[in-house]
Amino acid sequence: MYRSHTCGELREEHINKKVTLSGWVQKTRDKGFVVWVDLRDRYGITQLVFDEDRSSTALLEKARDLGREFVIQIEGIVIERASKNPNLGTGNIEVLVDELRVLNESKTPPFTIENETDGGEDLRMKFRYLDIRRNPIKNNIIFRSKVAMEVRKYLSGQGFIEVETPYLIKSTPEGARDFVVPSRMNAGQFYALPQSPQTFKQLLMVGGLDKYFQIVKCFRDEDLRADRQPEFTQIDCEMAFVDQEDVLNAFEGLTKHLLKAVNGVEIERFPRMTYDEAMIKYGNDKPDIRFGMEFGELTNLAQHKEFGIFNEAELVVGIAVPGAASYTRKEIDTLVDWLRRPQIGAKGMVYVRCNEDGSFKSSVDKFYDEVDLASWAKATGAKKGDLICILSGDAQKARTQLSALRMEMAGRLGLRKANEFAPLWVVDFPLLELDEESGHYHAMHHPFTSPKPGQLQLLDSDPGAVRANAYDLVLNGNEIGGGSIRIHDKEVQSTMFRHLGFTPAQAQAQFGFLMDAFQYGAPPHGGIAFGLDRLVAILGGQETIRDFIAFPKNNSGRDVMIDAPAPIDEDQLRELSLKLDVKS
Ligand code: AMO
Repeated sequence: MYRSHTCGELREEHINKKVTLSGWVQKTRDKGFVVWVDLRDRYGITQLVFDEDRSSTALLEKARDLGREFVIQIEGIVIERASKNPNLGTGNIEVLVDELRVLNESKTPPFTIENETDGGEDLRMKFRYLDIRRNPIKNNIIFRSKVAMEVRKYLSGQGFIEVETPYLIKSTPEGARDFVVPSRMNAGQFYALPQSPQTFKQLLMVGGLDKYFQIVKCFRDEDLRADRQPEFTQIDCEMAFVDQEDVLNAFEGLTKHLLKAVNGVEIERFPRMTYDEAMIKYGNDKPDIRFGMEFGELTNLAQHKEFGIFNEAELVVGIAVPGAASYTRKEIDTLVDWLRRPQIGAKGMVYVRCNEDGSFKSSVDKFYDEVDLASWAKATGAKKGDLICILSGDAQKARTQLSALRMEMAGRLGLRKANEFAPLWVVDFPLLELDEESGHYHAMHHPFTSPKPGQLQLLDSDPGAVRANAYDLVLNGNEIGGGSIRIHDKEVQSTMFRHLGFTPAQAQAQFGFLMDAFQYGAPPHGGIAFGLDRLVAILGGQETIRDFIAFPKNNSGRDVMIDAPAPIDEDQLRELSLKLDVKS
């Protein structure tokens, strides 16, 4: 028996008990006549004690030789601690050791295994198994397991069936590039790894399973960010015989359950906002509504004066930053520099200080008087003491830039509180999106999303105006889920493919299996997929999903621990009928 108790378990009630513990040496403190060792496992830390009076010299020596991260097993008696540690569950006791066995030695770890480590990101990724021993990462992984379990519990309770779908498939268009896998048995042919199980879950509805879910890996070859990984996990769901209202209610239920079970937070109803409203009010289709700073449109109020920049702009738009009127000129200049960085790309910013005495001071005082500025304050909801920040130019760009500024200022002002949760449904997304470069429309969500009832005809005359039966679930400014009511009619699906630029032959070759299935009694259906990694990170009060994934990839898509991706040898290439003409 390796252990009678874990390292987080022992309390005063165990005093005088003989116990066996196993774990890792966190640290040793040698005071000469006494040696203390902190023994750690997943459950906590227990202090071990060896001393001259009660331990043999050999045992004391052996304790002195223990290095950090040695794996040991001890036997001993639980005793009361002389100096107690109120910060530790086991802080009232220690174990007086009478037997010590080294189960495995350890090299000195490359960084300290403490809550605050001295290890940089790269090093911690290379030795991820050591990083996982640290509380912040370990707790995140345990937290993820809890969320996943609550998801299974809730959805199973609602009659959803968990079904596995294949990983070796044909391309499913979700807007990213595919990862592909060569087939040895079919020379020159490739599987694609699923960007999502989208088509399979629709086929499960044709198959009559009615309510499906799966906690499933998805693969997308796209540029990485804090909230994106090349392989990530979805809670993928689909339901038959539902309209949008049914789906929103079902998954509002799941989200409420998670907020309650995991965070102890109760939210009555989730607000809903159309895509258009979100863009106008927040410049963003995933607005963080934990705080105000809603956009005020100033175009009409600010044009037709002598200020050319505003006169030429498609949109003049501002936000009132609470309490920022006291910003110094230098602080404002720094803000403008921040906006001018290529990532944001604003040309400049106009500002108005709303002084405590009710007067205004702006960077465009030459062109606008107090009455003008007061009307801007009204439109942005600015109060005394606020700073109105105004951007202008191309409408879409100005909105995106102001949205970035809004989030940045909210961050600086501490308004993005991790323990406050503000879910929101964004509905009525455009069906199609114009790709500026190619001039072609592509599906904003995916090609299987149905247009709103009665809008199919608009596809020919005004494709950009067609709204979709599509919705996103937004939590604290993050898109944590997205879904739609699907097309379940072969003709409508063919029309959709035609508008997306597929020839009938291409549509048949790529999605013939789905359109064939639609001819055999496909029920109306719809669903949603949550990004589990994002959901877990946000419920955990953070935004970097990497910290909630046991073995994540770095920003270049590499696993630096196993060193992947990596070249494969000539034989393997030949076997797969692959020839590389990359010169090394
Ligand atoms: P969508 O593409 O919106 O929808 O994806 C659903 C959710 O998955 C998460 N997500 C990601 N998380 C981490 N890394 C990524 N690279 C990544 N990409 C997406 C997001 C997103 O909201 N088949 C449809 C769903 C449906 O229509 O039912 C789909 O995949 O949180």
